[in-house]
Amino acid sequence: MLDLLGNWDRTDYCGNLRTKDLDREVTIMGWVQSSRDHGGVIFIDLRDREGLVQAVFNPEKSLVSHKKAELIKDEWVIAVKGKVCRRTPETINPNLKTGEIEVVAQEVRILNQSKVIPFLIENEISVDELLRMKYRYLDLRRPDMKENLLLRHRAVSTVRNYLSSQGFIEIETPQLTRSTPEGARDFLVPSRLNQGEFYALPQSPQLLKQTLMISGFDKYYQIAKCFRDEDLRADRQPEFTQIDLEMSFVREDDVISTVEGMLRAVFKEVKGIEIQTPIERMTYDEAMMKYGNDRPDTRYGLELTDITQIFENSEFKVFSNAVKSNGIIKALNLKGKGNELSRKEIDDLTEVAKSLGAKGLAWIRVDKDEWHSPIVKFFGEAEKVELKRTLNIEDKDIIFFGADKPKVVNLVLSNLRTHFGKLFNMINGDEFKLVWVTDFPLLEFDEVENRYVSLHHPFTSPKEEDLELLKDNPEKVKSRAYDIVINGVEIGGGSIRIHRKDVQEAIFGKLGIESTEAINKFGFLLEALEYGAPPHGGIALGLDRLVMLLTGASSIRDVIAFPKTQKGVCPLTEAPSPVDINQLIDLGIKLDLKEK
Ligand code: AMO
Ligand code: AMP
Repeated sequence: MLDLLGNWDRTDYCGNLRTKDLDREVTIMGWVQSSRDHGGVIFIDLRDREGLVQAVFNPEKSLVSHKKAELIKDEWVIAVKGKVCRRTPETINPNLKTGEIEVVAQEVRILNQSKVIPFLIENEISVDELLRMKYRYLDLRRPDMKENLLLRHRAVSTVRNYLSSQGFIEIETPQLTRSTPEGARDFLVPSRLNQGEFYALPQSPQLLKQTLMISGFDKYYQIAKCFRDEDLRADRQPEFTQIDLEMSFVREDDVISTVEGMLRAVFKEVKGIEIQTPIERMTYDEAMMKYGNDRPDTRYGLELTDITQIFENSEFKVFSNAVKSNGIIKALNLKGKGNELSRKEIDDLTEVAKSLGAKGLAWIRVDKDEWHSPIVKFFGEAEKVELKRTLNIEDKDIIFFGADKPKVVNLVLSNLRTHFGKLFNMINGDEFKLVWVTDFPLLEFDEVENRYVSLHHPFTSPKEEDLELLKDNPEKVKSRAYDIVINGVEIGGGSIRIHRKDVQEAIFGKLGIESTEAINKFGFLLEALEYGAPPHGGIALGLDRLVMLLTGASSIRDVIAFPKTQKGVCPLTEAPSPVDINQLIDLGIKLDLKEK
């Protein structure tokens, strides 16, 4: 019953036909979206990459084709020869780009059949994501998913054109490499030729792009695959893509303005949006102060206020004791919403705060200018006056407080801020707010490991004027790093690098990386730094996250053709999978599995 394609040549994509094609004889090919028999005349919506068009099978025009059309089912693959005709006014479909025309079929070939599909090929489906991923080829037929991948292609093309036009050279770096320093767990690949040894898949091209600067390539970029074995979330995949670039003889502003030009081009090309440049900049300290977070969503206000000074000597011990143990006190005034949160909701928020490490969540609700609160009775008069002034407390406000180590306070209140932003619809979903975060601390103290760790990576240059603080006040040293944040999502991060071996060794020293360990891990870069390394810097942008924002998708899985589940599994290919015993023998590997 199947036909051969034979000598038929496709003349057009289904979705591209318009009234300009009226009266043309066309040959179109695609998948049957749906088929309807209207008393003798059969209408088939035929779909391809570019969209849908209606094909009409009228027995009076061609009895043979009509007979064949009666057999055709959803998702069969067919080819239709016919004439483009105008639809009668009452049958025009304004929801379809091809809605003013239809193809009146003269001949049809059935190229393939399809089993009954497990879910419908349409945008709004409530299907378990696992099922969508198992049948990803069907999922990708859905218009939204297809649009996402087409947009991703346009974004990548724009990036390539822009960077080439700015003199960047695309160079590939290997996937089979050594451990790279982004702080996640490595994916390892055993070597058959060197039994007992392993390649690591790159967490980023960081070391090799720096090496390329030492080679003199001056401006490098790559659409680079990166691999990190970490816990997954909506905006994290074990395998993801970076727009990675590096430049020589530059300062922060050179990298920043290159990225601004690139983002301008991308937003213009794929969204038709002109973004304002230069993009707003905010220091890390300001971001932490106002938003409790180094990737602030600046689409709405709801800023935090530090009120440590008001309560450092307070009778209210919860507050003053927190300050005594090196803590801070911050407040968030949710203006005018005092009557919109129930006591139960406040109690639930307190539980959330506790799950994030807080000891509690103090609050004041103002009703008819009276302060209702479990804590106000402990406040002095002067404290109340000062608090009212600082937070501009008015009727119907509700204020939340955090008093603890800065880390805990900022974590709790920034989560609360995000929660309220969503709950009270403070976010304009169509808006894009871009901000650079700069002046990060170089190091932070890791309580668990009991040592300093890099906030970015160990090749990030400290600010020259802070170098002398490195010895006694390492946490005060600022770095030459910058992050680009869009709508509260960290899209990219980079820095001016260390290009001198002595500085690099001093930083390794502070990080507690012994020189043997440094040589073992990054020895080749340390050695290369001794052969004329130019000053250099760069950045990497998460392509998947950028495309997620541009498409409005809620997870990066929706902008990746074949993503992995939260458990790192690909339901389509069923990777990872056990391997043949002989493959293990070749590799010299014996398994010692824990019971599942
Ligand atoms: P960083 O580790 O900040 O920097 O990564 C850069 C950007 O990559 C994206 N990203 C991810 N996207 C999806 N899934 C993940 N698991 C994931 N991890 C990171 C983020 C992030 O901002 N070598 C440095 C860059 C440099 O210094 O030039 C680096 O990799 O959007
Ligand atoms: P308590 O004295 O522990 O009963 O706390 C009085 C109020 O302060 C309660 O509403 C607690 O939720 C809140 N609270 C306790 N500890 C803290 C803290 N560290 N930060 C903010 N609020 C707190």
